[in-house]
Amino acid sequence: MAHSDLIRRLFASHIQSDDAGFRHAASELIAEERRKNHRLLADELERELNSEQRPGAGLALTLKAIPKSRDERPLLRLTKPRHELDDLVLASNVRTLVDEIVSEFRSRSILTSHGLRPRSRLILLGAPGTGKSATAHAIAAELSLPVATASLAALTSSFLGDTARNIESVVHFAEQTPCVLLLDEFDVLGQERSQAGDHGEMRRVAATVLQLLEDMQGESVVVATSNHPQLVDTAVWRRFDEVIGFGKLGQKQSSDLIKLRLRAHRSEITPLTWAKKLADCTPAEIELVCFDALRRTVLADKPAVDNEAMTSAWQRLRERLDTLAGVVTNVGSD
Ligand SMILES: Nc1ncnc2c1ncn2[C@@H]1O[C@H](COP(=O)(O)OP(=O)(O)O)[C@@H](O)[C@H]1O
Ligand SMILES: [Mg+2]
Repeated sequence: MAHSDLIRRLFASHIQSDDAGFRHAASELIAEERRKNHRLLADELERELNSEQRPGAGLALTLKAIPKSRDERPLLRLTKPRHELDDLVLASNVRTLVDEIVSEFRSRSILTSHGLRPRSRLILLGAPGTGKSATAHAIAAELSLPVATASLAALTSSFLGDTARNIESVVHFAEQTPCVLLLDEFDVLGQERSQAGDHGEMRRVAATVLQLLEDMQGESVVVATSNHPQLVDTAVWRRFDEVIGFGKLGQKQSSDLIKLRLRAHRSEITPLTWAKKLADCTPAEIELVCFDALRRTVLADKPAVDNEAMTSAWQRLRERLDTLAGVVTNVGSD
């Protein structure tokens, strides 16, 4: 059935309170999304459709008010996890750590009965696009928790004293609402400290943040991330239960990532060959190449992803990186 007809049926069945009709149309829509290889969306819709019958389902992610700054800006974003662990390819040591953390969280009552607590304050370090945020989301998905994202840079206020208050509100929220609290740009705390004219304010804020995290109660997991590990001093790292490094993937893992991203379509490429060609790329860049090759294949109405599509996508990525690096590539015109 055409997409527009399905949407019409959804609306009509809702207006007529025809639950069976609504479910039937929704199931067809999910199947259609799955056929289009929109697996994450299809899974999410399916979960929504099934959870709707549980008592209390359909409520917002939380009834607690999202904390706001003095000028009424929300200090964090509360979302559902956007990634699952099986959707990521992680270095084996990272995967082992993540599995351990998830299993400790699930067994936290056993640990607590022995006076122990699960590792629940993590700092993820590494270049942009290496999967730090995606891993935080995947941990949340494993633990069935929402993700509360706050950027340290956005919490930093020009009003003296507001920065610590903002961070306190965010931590307080996470104490009351079980979530994965994703603190992006954690290095901001270290960065400002070295700046001239900083009258010790950032140093005090950093000390406050670390103390708040150390004293934090409740069942949330804190995941801080930083693209600039050199700016986070060792005194800070020591306050976290785990420090996890992210980087480029090895050949085997890059090849697995290529297979994973192309799996929904027929493909005639050799993933390992492409993993070698893309050796300098971050996982996010490898993903970009795969999605670009998929788009080119679908639009050219080709039956399978081939080397030509991958080559064009790779070329496009290099142009894009050149532009980002401020290099204007001269396309020969003579
Ligand atoms: N290790 C990985 N495995 C699979 N996909 C990845 C991986 N790392 C990054 N990605 C993809 O790239 C996107 C950007 O990565 P992200 O987690 O935001 O990077 P970071 O937070 O380290 O800057 C993710 O949404 C994900 O789709
Ligand atoms: Mg990130």
